[in-house]
Amino acid sequence: MPPALPALDAVAALAALRGPGFAHVPRAFAPADIATLTASVMAEYDRLEVLIANEGVDRAAAGLPPGTRYQPAAASLGLDAIPGWRDLLGIVPATLWRLAPELLGGECAIDVDISWARRQYPPHLRRAGQAPHMLHQDGAYGATFAPGSTLMPMLVFWIPLTEAGIERPGIECILEPQPELVPLAALADAAAEVRWPTAKRLRPSMAPGGVLLIAGPHLHRTHVTADMTGIRTSLEVRVVPLPLSPRLAGHTTMTLPG
Ligand SMILES: [Fe+2]
Repeated sequence: MPPALPALDAVAALAALRGPGFAHVPRAFAPADIATLTASVMAEYDRLEVLIANEGVDRAAAGLPPGTRYQPAAASLGLDAIPGWRDLLGIVPATLWRLAPELLGGECAIDVDISWARRQYPPHLRRAGQAPHMLHQDGAYGATFAPGSTLMPMLVFWIPLTEAGIERPGIECILEPQPELVPLAALADAAAEVRWPTAKRLRPSMAPGGVLLIAGPHLHRTHVTADMTGIRTSLEVRVVPLPLSPRLAGHTTMTLPG
């Protein structure tokens, strides 16, 4: 049996983040609140999917409002493309936001430029140019991977807006803590399989209303199989310490709600 991730409250989540690096908090949001957030995001995807179907994965950006951030591979829309996104983030309880300064050791903020709505598709629904995320550390953002390159402190709020992990793509987590930047060669499928066999990785089953917290150093990738049937939509909200790392220079930040 693969390892299972226990359902945690905010206090236990902090301990989990300091240990294995992942914490699943189910039913973190009221059903009406997550429904409102989901409706706002899905309305944007209704428009984006038409653009992708008509224009193609890479050319869809031309039909989006000027300034919209779009990443073709995971059908990603910048968080700030969601109408009312600042208020919508208020559904996350203050107890969960407060985990960030406790974990990262000081004042923190949401980095809007690296916060996204994303989609992942099972293989039969995926278009050319779309792809799952390979094994990575979110704290590697902006790293050169040259000698001396380091991880960036970060806490990711991964918010499923659909079921994720069983019928629709989810997240696969490696529970072995990684305090340092892992070289890219070690993340290649064959090398990673030897060091971190997939049978021992965690693939949590998640539902709207829950949140998966991911500490920046910890390895994960998209969990997707050929027999999955549906599209997964989710939000990734990245919280970083202030002052901003030079690797985040010029990014827009938002004060943590609550
Ligand atoms: Fe990630």
